[in-house]
Amino acid sequence: MRQTHSFVSIGGLTREDILSLIAEAAEAERQPNRTLLQGRIVATLFFEPSTRTRLSFETAANRLGAKVIGFSDPKVSSTTKGETLNDTIRMVSNYADVIVMRHHLEGAALYAAEISDKPVINAGDGAHEHPTQTMLDLYSIHKTQGGLDGLDLCLVGDLKYGRTVHSLIQAMRHFNPRFHFVAPKELAMPDEYKQQLQAWGIPYVEHTDLTPEVISQCDILYMTRVQRERFQDLAEYEKVKDLYVLRAAMLGGARENMKILHPLPRVNEIAVDVDDTPHAYYFRQAENGLYMREAIICDTLGIPLH
Ligand code: CP
Repeated sequence: MRQTHSFVSIGGLTREDILSLIAEAAEAERQPNRTLLQGRIVATLFFEPSTRTRLSFETAANRLGAKVIGFSDPKVSSTTKGETLNDTIRMVSNYADVIVMRHHLEGAALYAAEISDKPVINAGDGAHEHPTQTMLDLYSIHKTQGGLDGLDLCLVGDLKYGRTVHSLIQAMRHFNPRFHFVAPKELAMPDEYKQQLQAWGIPYVEHTDLTPEVISQCDILYMTRVQRERFQDLAEYEKVKDLYVLRAAMLGGARENMKILHPLPRVNEIAVDVDDTPHAYYFRQAENGLYMREAIICDTLGIPLH
C-alpha cells in the first residue's frame, strides 16, 4: 500500500499495482460495509453527466463510513459565475479528504492533482482516460477468466473517442494480450495508441465488420457506445451510430468462457436478447465498480482493506 496519492492515469500503474488493487477489490467484495473511512469526507465533482461512476463512488464512500459532498451538475456550482477550475479545486481541497472528479477537458484531473493537496481521482477527463473504469474492467476480466495473462480481447465501436478503451489497452500491456479492433475508419483506434502497441510488441488486428468469426476468436468482447457528445458534426454521428449491434444470434460460435463487457450506458449496440445469454457480464461489471472504487478510495488515502 502506497502513501496518500492521486489516481489520474492508468499509465503509471505497474503489473504489481494492478494485481494489488484487484486483490483489494476482492477483499472489498468479501466485506463491502466497513468503518475504515469514518470521519473522512469524499467530494464528488461531476462537471459531466454520470450514473454509474458517481453513484458507485458515493456508495463506496458511504459503505466505508465516509460522508459525501459535491455536485452532479456544474450548473449548480459557482462555475456558472465564472469560477475557474483552479479556484474550485483549491476550495474543495479545504473541505474534503479526497476529490473524485469528472471533467470534459483532457488533462483536467492531472491539473487538479497538481493544484490540490488532497488526492484527486480521475472519474473521466474528456476523451482521454477513465482509469477507475479500467480497473473495474480488469477486476471483471480477472474474475471471469481466472487471471489477466494471455487473453484475446476484441474492442468494438468508438475506438477514437472511447476513453475506456484507451485506458484498457494501456493497462493490459502488462499481461501479454492480443487485440482485435472493430471500428469504422472514422472511429478507428488513434495512431498514437497503435504505435504504443507496436513499441510494446503487442499484436492487434483491425476490422471494420463485427462478424461471428471475429467474435469466435476472443475471450473478452468489449462493446462501446458511439459517443454523440464528442462529435462536432452530428451528421457524422448519424452515419456511424448504429453500425454495430450485437445480437444473441451472433454468439453461436463464441468460446464458452467469452464474456461481453460494456462500460455502459448502452444505446443500441447490444440488443436486449443478449442480456439472457451466459456471455453477458455488463451489469455484473457495473456492480464490480463498487468494490473496485472502495479499493481505489482506500488506496489513494493509504488505507489497506486487507
Ligand atoms: N461507465 C460510465 O462511466 O458510466 P457513467 O457515465 O454512467 O458514469
